[in-house]
Amino acid sequence: MRQILFSLTLASLLCISSGAEWCYLSQVTCESSSCKGPKEWNKVHPDCAGDNQSPINIITKRTLRNNDLMTFTFTDYDKQTIALMKNNGHSVQVSLPTGKKISGGNLTTYKALQFHLHWGTDGGPGSEHTIDGEQFPMELHIVHIKDTHSSLDQAVKEKDGIAVLGFFYQESPEENKNYTKLIDALDKITDMGLNTTLQGLRLDELIPAPENLTKYYRYEGSLTTPDCSEAVVWTVFENPIPLSKEQILAFTKLNFKDMKSMVDTFRPVQKLNNRIVYRSGSNVVVASMALLAASLLSTVGVSWLH
Ligand SMILES: *[C@@H]1O[C@H](CO)[C@@H](O)[C@H](O)[C@H]1NC(C)=O
Ligand SMILES: *[C@@H]1O[C@H](CO)[C@@H](O)[C@H](O)[C@H]1NC(C)=O
Ligand SMILES: *[C@@H]1O[C@H](CO)[C@@H](O)[C@H](O)[C@H]1NC(C)=O
Ligand SMILES: *[C@@H]1O[C@H](CO)[C@@H](O)[C@H](O)[C@H]1NC(C)=O
Ligand SMILES: [Zn+2]
Repeated sequence: MRQILFSLTLASLLCISSGAEWCYLSQVTCESSSCKGPKEWNKVHPDCAGDNQSPINIITKRTLRNNDLMTFTFTDYDKQTIALMKNNGHSVQVSLPTGKKISGGNLTTYKALQFHLHWGTDGGPGSEHTIDGEQFPMELHIVHIKDTHSSLDQAVKEKDGIAVLGFFYQESPEENKNYTKLIDALDKITDMGLNTTLQGLRLDELIPAPENLTKYYRYEGSLTTPDCSEAVVWTVFENPIPLSKEQILAFTKLNFKDMKSMVDTFRPVQKLNNRIVYRSGSNVVVASMALLAASLLSTVGVSWLH
């Protein structure tokens, strides 16, 4: 009896899988048909065990300020487009038509391919990157490849072939009307493989206003799903996008392949190892405030003398 109990406990602790497909931790069960959770992704692709993996926890006081990290230029982000939105079994992915590009931010020109999101359960922690240990409810990834590449397959072969823009979401008391179209369409793609067309989508409406895009973190990492290719220049913006609780919860209406609710679609944070995380030059504001304070003090000082 004790032996049976022992082996049962051992099996449930180890959950050895024989499935060949990757999945998130929330999908791992102890059946023999179970898929491979994040700890076993290296068996799906060896790159997942690399030294420059994503996501990471960003420890803000250990980031280095860098003046090369200037503002971004967005091309056609404000142009209304038709886009195909699909439940790919791991997330909701929106394929973008050609023409949308980014440059600036110490990057050469990259073109947008698609965006997708990562989320949690019941509006709880769901982002992939974390800031000083804090996990946000959701994260948006806009995936770009270098303008000179013709496909993602080609881009993954170069260390900086891919540029992903990452944005956090934050729960807000108000509904974000800019997301109504996208969130309403989720009803049409609840099951894996389903797709729908979004009309009149504007990328600039989904991200913070330009003046709120000057503060960001930069590091070299990987795709956060297998093959985990270490070919990504990451930009993680500090300013979050507001969404109401209802809007955040809407994403869990989607189902994984196994028809279970699509929740906790994030990879746990990976080791930073020898990498440096840079931050954009937001100290300009701090410096000018210091100057202002100094001039105020000297004014006070002068008036004291009189
Ligand atoms: C800026 O770009 C140059 C050229 O790609 C690179 O060598 C440098 O490391 C980048 N700086 C930062 C802070 O990423
Ligand atoms: C979208 O769904 C239709 C069926 O509704 C299917 O014929 C088509 O291949 C799908 N497109 C993609 C890109 O998945
Ligand atoms: C909605 O999009 C417009 C246009 O980009 C922007 O000015 C506004 O700040 C956005 N609203 C929210 C809540 O993000
Ligand atoms: C910029 O972000 C702040 C704080 O998140 C917010 O209060 C403000 O409305 C944003 N500005 C614009 C123009 O969206
Ligand atoms: Zn992602």
